[in-house]
Amino acid sequence: MKSGQVALTADRPTGRLHLGHYVGSLKNRLELQEQHDCFIMIADTQALSDNFDNPQKVVGSVVGICRDYMAVGIDPAKSTIFIQSMIPELFELTTYFMNLMSVARLERNPTVKSELQQKSFSDSVTAGFLCYPVSQAADITAFKATLIPVGEDQLPLIEIANEIVRRFNRIYGSNVLVESQAILGSTQRLVGTDGKAKAGKSLGNAIFLSDPSEVVKQKVNGMYTDPNHIKVSDPGRVEGNVVFSYLDAFFDNKDELADLKARYMKGGVGDTSIKSILNDTLQKLLDPIRDGMDLMKDEDIKDILLEGSKKARAIATQTLCEVRDAIGLRY
Ligand code: TRP
Repeated sequence: MKSGQVALTADRPTGRLHLGHYVGSLKNRLELQEQHDCFIMIADTQALSDNFDNPQKVVGSVVGICRDYMAVGIDPAKSTIFIQSMIPELFELTTYFMNLMSVARLERNPTVKSELQQKSFSDSVTAGFLCYPVSQAADITAFKATLIPVGEDQLPLIEIANEIVRRFNRIYGSNVLVESQAILGSTQRLVGTDGKAKAGKSLGNAIFLSDPSEVVKQKVNGMYTDPNHIKVSDPGRVEGNVVFSYLDAFFDNKDELADLKARYMKGGVGDTSIKSILNDTLQKLLDPIRDGMDLMKDEDIKDILLEGSKKARAIATQTLCEVRDAIGLRY
């Protein structure tokens, strides 16, 4: 039995999904789709806010991401998968919501601030990028989503969405819009294969769900371990050792893993052995996922996206009607 609550998740399409997405959100979505009405949005419009000069990267990633969803077991009968730009109602909502947020408030947003540091807006941020949190509030409210499974970096965005909801309902004397709540996943962030804090597609340090087995093996072999663990007999460090971070995330037998760690720390276990264990673990996880990917035709994936977008659009249209009505836009 589903809860009757709506859960919304989204990804910016700028490449294929990787193991960081898998532990951080995809696994979670598999459980969520059994419990709630789930919507999964491919946020192409939002992705354009910092890739407007490279639309091909965004557009060209949409089908691949959907292929990744399906391959891990997201079921379009349980989760509505749709494309943001196919729901123009979201952008009309965004326009009304922009009146409810000051520029100063948007500039204070820590998520946007840290993104700006990483991106190349030189000296002046675009209006589109500064306002993407407002558009995200439209994504959430259009579907009356109350559960938003996200990473911690998204918390300030949910806060902005809720401020918009409260302001809207107060100013227009309505109860059309509902507040939402972030659900933080249980797993932490997966480190990059190079030991950097985050595995990211743009950082080139991620293992993709679609990587062929030889590539996975190569990436595992190239992983950062303990630079002082030179001879097999040397005692090794487990903290900061990328192979063990990945084993923590993917190796199911925790007792066996604890034993392996103890032996590695004592000395006598080589990096080749732990890498081979990790490689086996990852191949076992990825084999069925890769098989699933190969089975699907692009046309079938596109059909799923069109179907999902149609369903999502009907709901957003209904909310937009209520919003226009609340504002008094009836002619
Ligand atoms: N900003 C989110 C991200 O970068 C993607 C996103 C767009 C989103 N709209 C959303 C997440 C609505 C949750 C709800 O991952």
